[in-house]
Parts: sequence; structure tokens; C-alpha cells
Amino acid sequence: MNLNELSPRTVKFCIETFGCTANAGDTMRMRAILKREGHRVVEAREADVIIVNTCTVTKRTELNVIKRLKELKGAGKEVIVAGCMAAAQPELVKMVLGTDVTMITPQDIYGYHNEQDFEGVIAVIPIAMGCVGKCSYCIVKRARGELRSNKPEKICEAVRSAVERGAKEIRITSQDCSAYGWDGSGMKLPELLDLVTSVKGDFRIRVGMMNPFTVIHILDELLDAFDSKKIFKFFHVPVQSGSDKVLVDMRRNYKAADFLEIVNSIRRRFKDSAICTDFIIGFPTETEEDFVSSLNLLEAVKPEKVNITRFSPRPGTEASKLKDLVEREKKRRSRIFSSIYHRLAFEKNKELEGTELPVLVTEQGKKGGVIGRDTSYREIVIKKDLPPGATCKVRVKEAKSTYLVGEVQDMFGENIDKEKIYQKFG
Ligand code: F3S
Repeated sequence: MNLNELSPRTVKFCIETFGCTANAGDTMRMRAILKREGHRVVEAREADVIIVNTCTVTKRTELNVIKRLKELKGAGKEVIVAGCMAAAQPELVKMVLGTDVTMITPQDIYGYHNEQDFEGVIAVIPIAMGCVGKCSYCIVKRARGELRSNKPEKICEAVRSAVERGAKEIRITSQDCSAYGWDGSGMKLPELLDLVTSVKGDFRIRVGMMNPFTVIHILDELLDAFDSKKIFKFFHVPVQSGSDKVLVDMRRNYKAADFLEIVNSIRRRFKDSAICTDFIIGFPTETEEDFVSSLNLLEAVKPEKVNITRFSPRPGTEASKLKDLVEREKKRRSRIFSSIYHRLAFEKNKELEGTELPVLVTEQGKKGGVIGRDTSYREIVIKKDLPPGATCKVRVKEAKSTYLVGEVQDMFGENIDKEKIYQKFG
């Protein structure tokens, strides 16, 4: 769809977003383009048009999206459907909203690299779209396609412009960041990170998801690049299963031992780092023994953060043709997995109680106060109103399994050299 189709009339619009950081980045781009064309952002109840930027990664998300579309239709709103569902399941969208519904696919807004309308101090900058994988369970490939890396100079320009407009946390995203440049654009992720960190200004970069299969090829150079003070020592490397047999069925192209090697190398290099990984529980070929292998890997690695997804067949994928496990069994396994993860993560966070961490305040908290990030991108909740972008020294008062509660000890003023402070703590 051509976004100009919303013109010539000026509309009041709002965008609701489902899904991952890449999708949130697409929302920021759509908002910027529409504002530039003279349209106005308003709350949902005042909007003439509501754009729903959809996700379809799991059945559960699909159901949530459909529920929301039906609600909006019932309320008589004009709805435009954007995002991965528009690209991967347009028939489903038409079934719900009618055949004349307007849709915007991620491809439609690909290329508007420098358009971004971020609120606060977090900017999302895509470095590529699509991936080089062929995972048997994944519908994202249908939505986002083969890898297309953005030009390094365009990415740097986008970072520079975001920093000039006050961004302090830059989330660089892609379906697989470590595949950057595999489509022959000439530069791989480590060199890109070197370039991006040379942009002047006071900001930190959070590198998005990196698949073990592509990380393993660039591991040493990647760790060198991560040595920059401007990069959070946060590594999101989704392993998906601890069983080599299931990894083959998933078409992941690596073994559990490769993942372990990546984790060990990261931790050897950066003693204070955070490993985030994803597990799919209840893949159709996952036996009890395979499930135990995933549990063993979880126990061996003790990742700082884990995203757990219960398998659900996605239309058009190879894995959707396999016989699904019964829901009760998938639930049982994910309950066990989740409770062990939370125990391990809590124990790990507990060790941080009483320590002091340098924190960059990045967001307002949902229940008041603010959220900040330490150098490893751990989430620290501070029950005090501080401006996003502020930096402070925080004492960890309380550990939870997924975040820490901190109390401000010291504010780092504007005139203080924050680089030196981070160096001291880093
Ligand atoms: Fe969902 Fe698409 Fe992201 S399916 S997880 S919004 S790439």
C-alpha cells in the first residue's frame, strides 16, 4: 500500500502495536511518515483511523490480534491492518474485516530508514529485514522474506539523527542481527557496530536478536566489537531447544554445544554480561528426553533472561504438518520449564542485592517510578521520578526473577564524564 493513500484528507490516527522490537520500529516509521504528511496522532477513542500493526508469531498472538480487530470493527472504527499478519495471512484479515480492508506490509515501509518518531529516549533502528534461515516452525519468513541488509551509511545516518534528537538507547534490530551483510552487502555486523559506535554522542546500543548459526561464524570479531563502552553487554541468542535431534527437526543449523560455546566465550570475555535466550517448548518431535535436554541446558547456562514459547503450529510452515503434542502435555512442560527458569534467574539476581550499579534511565515505569538499564541491560525499577536519559548510581535493594529494584545513591550530573563512570563500573 502507498501510505499517501490516506491523503488528501488529513486524518486523526493512532497506531496499536503487537509483536517484537522490529515491529515497534515499523510503528515509529509509519507514525513519522504520516505526521510528515500532515496527519495527526491522537488517542484511539478520538481517531478517525486506527492502524493495527500486527504480529502472528504464535497462535496465541494471532488470536489476540483477531480479537482486537473484531472489537474495533464492532466499534465502527476505520481500521488499517499493518505488519506481519497483513503480509503472511492477508486472507485471515479479509475474513475478519472484509475484502476491501487496507493493508500495509513490512515491505511497504522498508526503505524509510530515516523516518522515525520515537517518544522518550529509545529509538529503534532496523539494520536489515528478513533472514537467511529456513526454520521449520517459523511464519516470520513468510512475512519478512529473505535477508535484505540496509546500507551502513543509512544506518549510521539514522543513528546520528536519533542521537541528535535526544535518543540515549538505540535498539538496532533485525530478524537476525548477526546475519547482517550475509546478502553480500560487503560489511558484517562487527564492522557495522564499529561504525555505529563511532557516531558522536552520549548513547548506548542494544543489539537485537542474533541466531547461534550466524553468530558462530563471526564470534571473535563480534566480541571485539562489543568491547565498546557504547554497547550494552546484552546478548540475545535464541537457542530454542537443548536437544540436537529437535534442533535438526527445527532446521536450526547448529548444535546445543555451539550455543554453549557462544555463551562461554561471551562470559569469558565480559564477566558482567547478560545472556538472553529463547526456548520453544513442546515442538511436535520433542520427547520427554528432549525436553529434559532443554532443562539441562537451561540449568547449565543459567541465562539472565529467557523467553519461553509453547509451540503452536503456524499456517504454511513445515512443522504445522507434523502431529502436534496434546495441549495438556505442552502446558505441563512449559510450566515446569518456566518455574525452573524463574528460580534460577531469581537466585542469580539475589546475588546482586546490596551491590551498586550505574544505571541509565530509559522509560517511565508502568506502576510509577522509572525503569533503567545497567551496562548489561538488566532491568532496574527505581521508585522515584527521574527524567528519561538521566544516569545514576543505584544500590540494588531487592531481587525479582525478571528485574531488580534499586535505590538511587548518586545522580551523575550533566558535567560528569559518563564514559569514565561506565568504564569504572564496566
Ligand atoms: Fe511478530 Fe512479525 Fe515480529 S510475526 S515477532 S511482529 S517479525
